[in-house]
Order: sequence, then C-alpha cells, then structure tokens
Amino acid sequence: MNVPVSQFITVEGTEGAGKSTCIEHIQQWALQNEIPLVCTREPGGTPLAEQIRDILLEARDEQVDGLAELLLVFAARAQHLNGWILPNIKAGKWVLSDRFTDATYAYQGAGRGLSTDQIVALETLVQGGFQPALTLLLDLPVEVGLERARQRSEPDRFELEQQEFFEKVRAGYRERAKQQPWRVKIIDASKAPEQVAEQLVEALDQWLASLR
Ligand code: TMP
Repeated sequence: MNVPVSQFITVEGTEGAGKSTCIEHIQQWALQNEIPLVCTREPGGTPLAEQIRDILLEARDEQVDGLAELLLVFAARAQHLNGWILPNIKAGKWVLSDRFTDATYAYQGAGRGLSTDQIVALETLVQGGFQPALTLLLDLPVEVGLERARQRSEPDRFELEQQEFFEKVRAGYRERAKQQPWRVKIIDASKAPEQVAEQLVEALDQWLASLR
C-alpha cells in the first residue's frame, strides 16, 4: 500500500457522543484496508498515565485547581506519548487514540477557562510539533450526549459538571475544527447510527486517498 508507514488518528467529542462505537468502526475500516492499527486512550494509555487518569476522574470534595488539572493532563500525556505512542509509531503501527490534546483545548481551555497560551506552552514542551494526522470530532447537542452518558454509569468528576460547562467544551471543539480544518473533521453524531458510520468511513476514505 502506497501510504506513509505510520499515522496518528484521534477521536474527540463531548460526553455520550459515541466514541466507543466510532472506534469500533475505525478498527473495522483499518482491518479492511490492511492497516496495522493499535488503540489507546487519554488520559491514560500506560500504567502510570492510567493512575493519573484515576486521579483526574475521581469525584472528590476538594476543589481541583484548574492549573493542577492541566498539569496532570500533560503529565499523563508525556508518559503516554514517550512510553507508548511514539514507540508504536516508530515500529510502523498506526495509532488511534480516544482523545488527545484537542480535549485539553476544549475541556481545560474552553470549559475551565484556562489561557490558551498556557496550553500552547505545555503542548510545545510535551509534544514539540507532534499532532494527530486526522481527528474525527463527534459533534452533537450537549443534552443528547449527557442523557446517554448519565444512563451508562456512575458519573465521574467531569460528568458531574453542568450543561453550561459542556456547551463551552462543545464550542471549544468546534473552534478547533474551524482553526485546523485540514486535520479536524466534524462528524454529525446526532444522526442515526448507520448514518454516523457512513460519515466516518467517508472521512477515513477521503483522508486515506489524500495520502496516496
Ligand atoms: P472519557 O474517557 O470517558 O472520555 O473520559 C475522559 C475525561 O477526561 C473526559 O471527561 C474529558 C477529560 N479530559 C480532559 O479534561 N482533558 C484532556 O486533555 C483529556 C484527554 C480528557
């Protein structure tokens, strides 16, 4: 296959947007296209980064400082990137991550109101110029996603946030898509499952064709 030997793809969206189903479709698509895809998630992806995830997601009485949250997110990312993502990419794998730095711009930036400059500085420190080649942003009205997410399990610290927070997160994600349209593709996740799957495959096929 005449495509680069490795790539980095991410899936993003607010709570209940259907990321897990989307990831299954991408895995299926990769199999059909004989792409050696490995999957991971953020925060998390290595034993240490998963411990940081537990700290970040645990609902607690203590107010979590926004900067502390941001630093924890990037601490987990440094471990994940250097300990798992880059070694896999160097080995010729394609890596699919359930969330990456667009989530930081959306949740800590737009949601919590932390400054973009701080996020850019940490992104540069941790990633250099490393970016996903393709980001599939599952976009849907916040109330629809929250309803789905809350039916699933006990809410984590983020899921306990109010709708207003997630409206800001959604707007933050959409802004990322506007700023970097060559990389971030919006998928209308409010549609029926088969229509969401069609949009995903179309975006993936178009992107793969652009690599050839
Ligand atoms: P999820 O795996 O269910 O998507 O949960 C991860 C949570 O972590 C989600 O609520 C979003 C949040 N998060 C951030 O706030 N910033 C980040 O950079 C990342 C990767 C996730």
